[in-house]
Amino acid sequence: INPTKFSTALLCYYDTHRRTMPWRDNPTPYAVWISEVMLQQTQVTTVIPYFNRFMKALPTPQHLASASRDQLEKLWEGLGYYSRVHRLKDAAQIIVRDYDGELPSTFDELLALPGIGPYTAGAVASIAFNLNAPAVDGNALRVFSRLLEIKETIDKNSVKAAVGRVIIELQGHRPGDFNQAIFDLGATVCTKSPQCNLCPVVDFCHSFHDQRVFEFPKKKRR
Ligand code: ADE
Repeated sequence: INPTKFSTALLCYYDTHRRTMPWRDNPTPYAVWISEVMLQQTQVTTVIPYFNRFMKALPTPQHLASASRDQLEKLWEGLGYYSRVHRLKDAAQIIVRDYDGELPSTFDELLALPGIGPYTAGAVASIAFNLNAPAVDGNALRVFSRLLEIKETIDKNSVKAAVGRVIIELQGHRPGDFNQAIFDLGATVCTKSPQCNLCPVVDFCHSFHDQRVFEFPKKKRR
């Protein structure tokens, strides 16, 4: 895959079909972090009202660091996985103590914070700081398994790592938009029943070329 041609086609699609989301309008590091943690196990449409309420109640890491357990659980009620919000507070306290209340701006420092794994660190680094970093979620794995005809099941860490390396190679100078375009593509076009006729990168897709889109992603044999 030619990186310049691929990212040009993908970003052109993103610029014309970009879905509106509150954290995309003003992607401050704090807003991107909160949204990405909420989006870890929850769909975009569910997250939007929670995100807006959370940002109004706790607009900065300082507010989050000193929020009560009770307030946090109320803000999170219905999202599930409550450990996420408690680790959010733990991380905010570190951000206030060690980073003057601003999110750190490197992948490694982000990764070291509680509740931030490789996915969230990559999403924040790319979207908020415009650093080249992959954000490999289920959408990205499905999209790239089809683009590249990945023969292994996508639950493997080796596949995740390989997809991350490919993303870095293709990503170009708008890494945050690149990653978000992949999310949107996976959520709207390259879904379980893909609509290849609407795909901006169909010309690069190995499985489409071979008429084998429906064989990917590979399922675990059971
Ligand atoms: N899923 C996870 N992060 C996302 C984002 N920034 N935009 C859309 N979907 C997402």
